[in-house]
Amino acid sequence: MTVVINPDFNPVPSRDLSHDVRAVAEPSAAAQAVAVAVSAEGDVPAIVGLNREALAAVGFTGAAGSTTLLPRQDGPVLVLVGLGDTKGSLTGAQLRDAAAALVRAASQLGTLEFDARGLSTVDARTIGEVVTEGAVLARYRYDALRSQPTTVPLTGFTLVVEAEQVAEAQAGIDRGLILARAMDTARDLANTPPRHLSAEKLGDLAVALGPELGLEVEIFDRAALIELGCGGLLGVNAGSVEEPRLIKLSYRPENATGHLALVGKGIMYDSGGISLKPSNAMHQAMKFDMMGAGAVFSAMSVLRDLGATAAVTGWMMCTDNMPSGSATKLGDVLTIRGGTTVEVKNTDAEGRLVLADGLVLATEEAVRPDAIVDIATLTGAAMAALGTRTAALLANNDAVAEQLQAAAVRTDENTWRLPLDHRYREQLKSNVADLSNIGGEYAGTTTAALFLNEFVDGLPWGHLDIAGTMKADADDLWRSTGSTGFGARLLAEFAVAFEAPQK
Ligand code: BES
Ligand code: ZN
Ligand code: ZN
Repeated sequence: MTVVINPDFNPVPSRDLSHDVRAVAEPSAAAQAVAVAVSAEGDVPAIVGLNREALAAVGFTGAAGSTTLLPRQDGPVLVLVGLGDTKGSLTGAQLRDAAAALVRAASQLGTLEFDARGLSTVDARTIGEVVTEGAVLARYRYDALRSQPTTVPLTGFTLVVEAEQVAEAQAGIDRGLILARAMDTARDLANTPPRHLSAEKLGDLAVALGPELGLEVEIFDRAALIELGCGGLLGVNAGSVEEPRLIKLSYRPENATGHLALVGKGIMYDSGGISLKPSNAMHQAMKFDMMGAGAVFSAMSVLRDLGATAAVTGWMMCTDNMPSGSATKLGDVLTIRGGTTVEVKNTDAEGRLVLADGLVLATEEAVRPDAIVDIATLTGAAMAALGTRTAALLANNDAVAEQLQAAAVRTDENTWRLPLDHRYREQLKSNVADLSNIGGEYAGTTTAALFLNEFVDGLPWGHLDIAGTMKADADDLWRSTGSTGFGARLLAEFAVAFEAPQK
């Protein structure tokens, strides 16, 4: 192949950015713009110097995410940021959105301030964390392949709190920086074009970064995968000129409080294979089909910094899905690790094939995991059902589902639980093999999850289908155009708070 790619190309440029975010008790003189959060009801903060009627006259009602700029003679621009209806109980998600709205409204300015005095219904640590996340995530832009960057970097961000809250708020800021960095890493990996980030290159990157992240990294190449009998990953890879990679990450804190396995779908590009996808907008986005694996890597990249006490093993199942003379054909039967045979009736239902090998490997670990969670851009049906803001969650265990949902609420990566209805299991029958890789016309998210459920050996398991939430078509508060990085913060929070379900 003769293609021109800079051999020094960096697939995770966000990791080189450092953000100076500080909690202060006095407004800073350097800020170019200062945000004041205003609810849709109640008093307008005194610093604004205007009442509701005056604000309504310029169309500002405090609606969630809305902003109005007020230039001042004697200080930085005031940015009024609407919190929406807070009914006296402001949430972290509202505050994260408000910080993101500030950063969007002041997109040409590099030094910003958020005045959070008076937001007493949220504790200072949470204020620090969510404001930082909102600010950093909203300023994200994927500029790695542009000749000229399009973004003004956020060089300074101050958060004004009451004097006695400064230390707590700074602790929250430090945590928010870690979580935002995880999500921006996931965005970088997904936004990187497939030629710039093959499975092999992703493996090389994990090996290079592993030591500084406190992760042990093992790479399984094609020969090793043949040895392991990973017929799902190899079968999906069969049409590709690129090698597959299984990237195993191990986080092993001393005196681990439990063991969690994370399995990610890493389809570096999903063409559909022989069941070729059409060249429409959605399929131009299929470089994002590795976001499950990207979320596993990115979440695990911050476990040590967040002080996670459970051991976590990550299984990134990576290959592209390509048509060619050597590709898997409809009717071919693959043997997943462990011996289950699968008739491939549609090569575009490839994610479940690569995940199956990963799930089996996870169950086989010497110290069996207390729970397994997989994450995948798995089905268009999840997007049809829940849209682009809510991921589908399915589980064979209520405790795992509840812990995932609690993490999702914290990070505002929304999930909604769908039923793992075993009556649809018969749709996965094949005339020639143990299973078919597709179900019927409806309940596609459930039948995909039922397929995965065949490989978890009854261990507590949760499944996140992030097909709908993987991308943003336009900047929208903390979501920036392109890959959303969905799942990275969620999995990090989940792993940090993980408690083994009762046996
Ligand atoms: N990667 C796709 C799912 C997807 C679709 C993600 C749209 C993001 C946006 C997956 O591999 C796929 O093609 N699934 C098929 C399964 C079907 C053939 C049973 C689908 O959803 O159509
Ligand atoms: Zn597919
Ligand atoms: Zn796919």
